[in-house]
Amino acid sequence: MAEQKSTNITWHGGHIGRADREKLLGQKGACIWLTGLSGSGKSTVAVAAEAELVKRGHLAYVLDGDNVRHGLNSNLGFSPEDRTENIRRIGEVAKLFTDSGVLVFTSFISPYRADRDAARELFESGDFVEAYVKADVATCEERDPKGLYKKARAGEIPEFTGISAPYEEPEKPELVVDTAGQTVEQSVTELIAYLEGKGYLSL
Ligand code: ADX
Repeated sequence: MAEQKSTNITWHGGHIGRADREKLLGQKGACIWLTGLSGSGKSTVAVAAEAELVKRGHLAYVLDGDNVRHGLNSNLGFSPEDRTENIRRIGEVAKLFTDSGVLVFTSFISPYRADRDAARELFESGDFVEAYVKADVATCEERDPKGLYKKARAGEIPEFTGISAPYEEPEKPELVVDTAGQTVEQSVTELIAYLEGKGYLSL
């Protein structure tokens, strides 16, 4: 829990609630928390799932690590403390999106189990779906879409996840998306089937 510095603040409720917004959208809001190594396919799967859901008439939105670090989290680096704060802020933002009725995909390495668990704690049970986007270091390093593993091996990126910083695998994720063994389409189909099966896509 981050230190509460603000004082004399009062929660101000709205005239309409989450249920009204969900009725408008014909879906349940939820956070689908994608976690995995850099290059594991989180963002690829997230944007493809977002597109497919929108095509089917749902409102989905992707919060992506690289993108959010351009703005909201531009003052954070990759030390354990900064990563914790990165994930804390995104957990809070994703909670707001969920309350708005949107299906929000978060695409962050989120390497520390404790940080992911703290994000989960912010949500009502069922509103947080942890999806482990699974591909081992060797596979991600072979893909190396941004050339970062090469740089990390050359010692040009300190604290690089999987090389010189840890990645703690989820112990009980709701979903495992095995991107090493399937196509993007298969991963998306699996993800959406999960959401459908659990009733997120209807009221
Ligand atoms: S997290 O660990 O705090 O969850 P986040 O997902 O926001 O990370 O950002 C990861 C992205 O930042 C990677 O995909 C990569 O493009 C870039 N990056 C730059 N430096 C590092 C680093 N040291 N470790 C991991 N990713 C890094």
